[in-house]
Amino acid sequence: MIADKKIVFSGVQPSGNLTIGNYLGAIKNFSAFSDEYKCFYCVVDLHAVTVRQVPAELRRRTYETLALYIACGLDPEKNTLFVQSHVPAHAELAWSLNCYTMFGELSRMTQFKDKSAKHANNINAGLFTYPVLMASDILLYQTDLVPVGVDQKQHLELARDIAIRFNGVYSDTFTVPEGYIPPAGMKIMSLADPTSKMSKSDPNANAVVYILDSKDDIIRKFKRAVTDSDCEIRYAEGKDGINNLMSIYKCFTGKEFSDIEREFDGKGYGDFKLAVGEACADALAPVRGEFERLMADKAYLEGVMKAGADEANYHARKTLSKVYRKIGFTQIK
Ligand code: TYM
Repeated sequence: MIADKKIVFSGVQPSGNLTIGNYLGAIKNFSAFSDEYKCFYCVVDLHAVTVRQVPAELRRRTYETLALYIACGLDPEKNTLFVQSHVPAHAELAWSLNCYTMFGELSRMTQFKDKSAKHANNINAGLFTYPVLMASDILLYQTDLVPVGVDQKQHLELARDIAIRFNGVYSDTFTVPEGYIPPAGMKIMSLADPTSKMSKSDPNANAVVYILDSKDDIIRKFKRAVTDSDCEIRYAEGKDGINNLMSIYKCFTGKEFSDIEREFDGKGYGDFKLAVGEACADALAPVRGEFERLMADKAYLEGVMKAGADEANYHARKTLSKVYRKIGFTQIK
C-alpha cells in the first residue's frame, strides 16, 4: 500500500517497435488502474539487453516507449513512469533473488526455451535469469496487481513462488502479486501465422501491426491476413485466423463476438478484414499524433524520466533495505 492505495506494476521492453499485441494485451489497459491504484509503469531496458541491441536504437526506443506510454493515455502526474536502468535496486534485488531461485525452475521457462532456440549463438546467462529480474521489478514495489498478456503468466507465477519462498524463510517481506490478464486481447496472434503470437521481433513485417503504422499500412496488413477457406465469420475452434481478427475487432470496438457474427452475416472476408483494419487504424490515429508531438519534446520526456526515477528509487530502496536487513547484510548510515 502507498497512501492507502494498492499497487500496480508493469513493464514493456524497448526491444523493437511496439505492436498491437503490446497495446491490446497490456498498455491499453494500464490507464484503467490509474485512479484506484498507485501505478508504476517501467520501460525495462535491462531486460532488453538479454538479446543483442544496437546502442543508438535501444536509446531511441527507450524514449519512444516512454512517449507511447503517455500517448496511450498514461498521465505522468498520476502514474510513475520510469526507466529500469535509472533505478539500480532492480539489478541489486535480482542478484539476491537469484540465490532464492532454483536452476530447475528457470530451466522450465518456456520463453527461455523459445528465445534460446531463436538466438542460438547468444544463449547468455541474462536470458536464463531474466525471470528473476522480472520478479525483482514486481516485488520491489510491493505490487498487488500486474497487468500483462498471457505470455507472461509463467514468469508471474515464478515471481509469486519466489516471494512466497522468501517470506517463508524470513517472515513477511514481499506482497505476493496477482496477475491481471485481460479477457480479450490477452494473446494477439501473428497475421501471417495465427497459431503463433504476434511479436515485435518477428522479421516478417506483414505479420505484425505496429502501434505507429500508418492507416494505409494497417489496412494493407489486415487485407493480407491469413484466414481459412470456409468464408464464414464465426468464432470457432480451428478458425485461428478469423478468431484472431474477431478478437482484435472486439478489443477496438467493444463489440461482443455474437454481435460481430451478426454484423458480418452473409458478408465476405474482404469486408470483414477492411472493417478490422479501419477500426484499428481509427483507434490508433490519436496515439500516433500524440506520440509525434511528444517525441519532438525530448526535454519533457527527460523530465518525466527524472521525476519517475526519483519516485521509483524512493520506494524501491525501502524494499531493498528491508530485504538486505532480513538476509543479514550489514548496513551503514
Ligand atoms: P514484452 O515487452 O514482450 O511485452 C510487453 C507486454 O505486452 C504483452 N504482449 C502481448 N499481449 C497480447 N498479445 C501479444 N501478442 C503480446 N505480445 C506482448 C506482454 O504480455 C507484456 O505484458 N517480461 C516482459 C516485460 C517485463 C514485465 C516486468 C512485465 C519485465 N518486467 C514486470 C510485467 C511486470 C516482456 O518481455 O514484455
